[in-house]
Amino acid sequence: MKAIDIRNKYLNYFKNKEHKVIPSAPLIPENDPSVLFTTAGMQPLVPYLLGEKHPEGKRLVDYQKCLRTNDIDEVGDNRHLTYFEMLGNWSLGDYFKEEAVKMSFEFLTKELGIPVEKLSVTCFAGDEDAPRDEVTANYWREAGIPEERIYFYGKDDNWWIAGEEGPCGPDTEMFYDTGKPPCSEDCQPSCNCGKYVEIWNNVFMEYYKHKDGKYEKLKQQNVDTGLGLERMAMLLQGKQTPFDTELFAPVMEKLEKLSKNDSIESRRIVAEHLRASIMIILDGGVPSNIDRGYVLRKLIRRMTRHLNKLEIDLSELENLIELNIETLKEMYPELVDNKKRIKQVIIEEKNKFMKTISHGEKEFEKAINKAKQEGKKVIDGQTIFKLYETYGFPPEITADLATEQGFKIDITEFDKLFKEHQEKSRMGSEQKFKGGLAEQNEKTIAYHTATHLLHKALQIVLGEHAKQKGSNITVERLRFDFSHPEKMTKEQLQQVEDIVNEQIKRDLKVTCEEMSLEQAKESGATGLFENKYGEKVKVYTIGDFSKEICGGPHVSHTGELGHFKIKKEESSSAGVRRIKAILED
Ligand code: ALA
Repeated sequence: MKAIDIRNKYLNYFKNKEHKVIPSAPLIPENDPSVLFTTAGMQPLVPYLLGEKHPEGKRLVDYQKCLRTNDIDEVGDNRHLTYFEMLGNWSLGDYFKEEAVKMSFEFLTKELGIPVEKLSVTCFAGDEDAPRDEVTANYWREAGIPEERIYFYGKDDNWWIAGEEGPCGPDTEMFYDTGKPPCSEDCQPSCNCGKYVEIWNNVFMEYYKHKDGKYEKLKQQNVDTGLGLERMAMLLQGKQTPFDTELFAPVMEKLEKLSKNDSIESRRIVAEHLRASIMIILDGGVPSNIDRGYVLRKLIRRMTRHLNKLEIDLSELENLIELNIETLKEMYPELVDNKKRIKQVIIEEKNKFMKTISHGEKEFEKAINKAKQEGKKVIDGQTIFKLYETYGFPPEITADLATEQGFKIDITEFDKLFKEHQEKSRMGSEQKFKGGLAEQNEKTIAYHTATHLLHKALQIVLGEHAKQKGSNITVERLRFDFSHPEKMTKEQLQQVEDIVNEQIKRDLKVTCEEMSLEQAKESGATGLFENKYGEKVKVYTIGDFSKEICGGPHVSHTGELGHFKIKKEESSSAGVRRIKAILED
């Protein structure tokens, strides 16, 4: 079964169970850019899990484009992917454990035809925060999973939360037995030997974890599920890795033909990073030195490096992008119209990287000459790290060049510095995740409404082209990126600030209406109009001043906002400016 057939079966199955099909949110979160990328299907739905009413109702189903970068350096083995698609069905305070289990079981065994003997399940073992989930286990027993294939684990395995704070709950996971021999007498789903592969997770989201670690019951009992499409396609097709499925095979075969050596790991890295880069660029990502842009840059550069390793002429890159888009277009038809732009971004970045390499080589020569003068035989870790951090010069290349010139390298020192650097950036992104979707309180809601006022005020002062490119909200401030080619003048900033404050003084009413995307477009609301399946959207109107498609939530009157003050206006990336602003009491 091809991935697209699994996806369609899934959407149809749940549609027949009264779920509304909603579109995948963009990979780059639209109204919650405090997170780098969408990492799970639940992420764009957080407000609704917390009790906000969803315009499409209480039962939803979708496929969600996801990107997880924690394991970026693991890509190349037989299973890790950064980009993947997650199929999910949601109950927003509607059905709970019984129906969720029954539908999952029916879908796996009847729709996908997986024999019951191949399935094992896990449930939450219980602790001081929540009870042992015998309720779910009983539904599995009733469905026909024998006792010996029902396992109970603690929070580490059977509890799901995105980040540190937010909606969460015990989960039940389904595992597929690949038929490999058990690794030991005690081989079970929780071990990583490859016999059992997790195929689906049903989270019973009925708790909220607070910053202080305390759990509280949510207003409603939700179900959040995630089924990894690539992995399911691999298993149903009897393949050993996702790279052997139709999603990667054409590119993998082409790479094999072109490469002059046999590094399967490099071929996987190229194929995986190319697909991920294409999907990020499709949703508006551009390479840069920070945050999302940095992730994209890293993916493209790593891919380029491995093309070099495979001794593939870089002029082939264009054909490889074409072929990749050809392979993916059945799943993402919108790629076709964006092909030219995608190619341009990747190729430009590749060219920049090649320049970096030659620049880095010069710096390397300087370092080598200095070492020679000092009579050293070892290039120490500091030098390699500086070349890496300042010029993006890959340590492997430094190592190769150094060895060519008869030098040894102190890789231990480099590894230590590199680990510290990684730790810092990992903490940075966790911080982002934490500050983003989980945190929803009076202050962030006020900043959200202020963002709408700012967006409109910018369009009044600068012109219609000043469109939202990103937004980031914390309890302390808002940050708003918008398209505009030059630095704003002092006068323009003052005007924008005045306009926003005037709307706050007018104490405008904020109202929300649900309507079709078509109606929203006709009503003049700003927002993304690319949704495929979404029939209804929410439109937030602020008095006679602004109208935007948005998931909410917002304050009820602008008078609640306090005094709006712009703290900074600066460049964000080419053609994009950034404003940081605060609300004072
Ligand atoms: N949110 C759950 C996951 O990502 C379903 O695994």
